[in-house]
Amino acid sequence: MTIKQTLKSAVTKLKKQSIMSAILDAEILLAYILKKNKEYLFTYPEKTLTKNQLSRFNKLIAKRSTGIPIAYLTHHKEFFGLDFYVNKNVLIPRPETELLVDETLKILNLLISQSSNFSPTIADIGTGSGAIPVAIASNVSAIRESRLHSLPIKILATDISKPALKMATKNANLHATKITFLHGNLLTPIKHKKIDIIVANLPYVESTDLKKVTPNTIGLKFEPKDALYSGPDGLDAYRQFFTQAAKLKHKPKFILIEYGGPQQTAELKKIIKAHFPTAKIQNKKDLCGLDRVIIIKL
Ligand SMILES: C[S@@+](CC[C@H](N)C(=O)[O-])C[C@H]1O[C@@H](n2cnc3c(N)ncnc32)[C@H](O)[C@@H]1O
Repeated sequence: MTIKQTLKSAVTKLKKQSIMSAILDAEILLAYILKKNKEYLFTYPEKTLTKNQLSRFNKLIAKRSTGIPIAYLTHHKEFFGLDFYVNKNVLIPRPETELLVDETLKILNLLISQSSNFSPTIADIGTGSGAIPVAIASNVSAIRESRLHSLPIKILATDISKPALKMATKNANLHATKITFLHGNLLTPIKHKKIDIIVANLPYVESTDLKKVTPNTIGLKFEPKDALYSGPDGLDAYRQFFTQAAKLKHKPKFILIEYGGPQQTAELKKIIKAHFPTAKIQNKKDLCGLDRVIIIKL
């Protein structure tokens, strides 16, 4: 079969299973099997696939038809312009989370600009694939150069999942970034350390959503439950996080968190105010115009 025929047949199969991104998915998976980029498929549509290529491609299409996310089939996901390894042990990094990285970099820039002899420490809590700290570390040198800042910037990252930490370490090595990974529950591994900026994208999906599966959300079924769900209103992890944060010996200057959207904003602010009554709280919206990040200045 040629590339063109193979793609056509795969798209038909995926559409039958209500896979919304059938065309794009078929193209990504075929390019992955051929170890080429997508342009190659359009440049050589009449090229014939080998038996082995066709059989491996069809297996991936069968898996994709069950709803397994593309990133778990190719083991790659782009985030903040960088390539990350992913497997079933880690949440697939989401585009929304780029906002959290952006805001963290802005604050880092601000803190460095205020004091050239400031050597900040950042901690990412619930690091998963390591997407957040690796993206921060990869952009830190540009900030330091623009600010003529020569002091070290230390980055720590924690997770309760050891397999996730293994993947995060692999990603840190892939991008030649220096990150200290620590295992443990939320802020416990850093409770004695002096941290300036704490960043977290903890599980925030309402546990009742586990039962509501649509073609749009079927992929969630294949991601680690502990990375997604967090009690009836999705805020259990953040309740525990802020309880721990209030007890930290050294108060951070900033805490930035990502969360589920406008339905959680009021309750989250209540939780934060209960632990940090004088904190300045600022909301940031994602590209869809939905509340997504809260910045807390302590
Ligand atoms: C929503 S995922 C985010 C992963 C990654 N930070 C990202 O943005 O792609 C939440 C992560 O928090 C971790 N996690 C859940 N509960 C935790 C806890 N009590 N302590 C530490 N990490 C936890 C999960 O293992 C998962 O990796």
